[in-house]
Amino acid sequence: MATQKLFEVIQSDSILVLTLNRPKALNALNKQLIGELHHFFVKELKTYSCKGVILTGSGDRAFAAGADIKEFRTMDAREMEALSALGHELMFAIENSPIPVIAAIEGYALGGGFEIALACHMRIGSEKTRLGNPEVNLGIIPGYGATQRLPQLVGKGRSLEIMLTARMINASEAMDWGLLNKVVAPGKTVSESKEILQLIGSKGTTAVTKVIDVVAAYYNKNCNGFQEEIKAFGKLSATDEFKEGTQAFIENREAKFKN
Ligand code: CAA
Repeated sequence: MATQKLFEVIQSDSILVLTLNRPKALNALNKQLIGELHHFFVKELKTYSCKGVILTGSGDRAFAAGADIKEFRTMDAREMEALSALGHELMFAIENSPIPVIAAIEGYALGGGFEIALACHMRIGSEKTRLGNPEVNLGIIPGYGATQRLPQLVGKGRSLEIMLTARMINASEAMDWGLLNKVVAPGKTVSESKEILQLIGSKGTTAVTKVIDVVAAYYNKNCNGFQEEIKAFGKLSATDEFKEGTQAFIENREAKFKN
């Protein structure tokens, strides 16, 4: 019998909604789910024609309450390291997706769940959103990139506070700290994310992809982001999108990009 997938994909209006589907375990990320998401972002996403991706959790209690702690107990140190490496590959695939990815966070995003949200290009929360890295409560550290991505958003002091105290950050604090782009009413994070992706989808696709690329270059120690920006700026000026965008401005009309 084929194993059932642990997330579901629904496409509507050129937006893909990926829903983590383990509601009884608050969408905890077991190895199978990490593997399936990795396969999706590395192999399957390019087969869809879409303007954006929303990652969310099933039910109203959690985006994802972290890695599956019960499964950890069955794994040795070598397997744990391999799982962490696979998780890192998934986070890089999300972060480097040429199509914008938004985390729509209802309820808890903790541990590995928070780390997926950190790898997304934007995060929309609700008043019930709670974020945190409680790994020290378990005697481990974050394993899917929070030690590196959290300081990018909130700086070193606040990152250490989140990871060392293991306390949960509520929605208004997360907004103040820049962890969330917007807070909406419970149940509305997916519709808000769709609106943002529709707006982005009306822009030139190549330019959108280049913004994602060049901003990522700032955080890549092997890249000179300023040089990347100069090269991308030059290349984009040779595209049909640039011709249409500038022509539309001159004709005082909305640009119609062929995405
Ligand atoms: N792994 C496995 N199962 C989990 C889980 C997790 N991370 N989080 C919740 N669950 C399960 C619970 O065991 C429970 O299952 P049963 O009904 O079978 O007992 C069910 O989900 C509901 O959870 P609770 O009864 O605990 O719900 P609650 O409302 O009392 O508490 C919570 C909610 C505060 C989120 C609590 O579940 C919790 O603290 N979860 C663990 C959070 C955590 O420590 N995450 C980090 C994991 S380690 C990690 O992610 C490492 C990494 O970086 C890769």
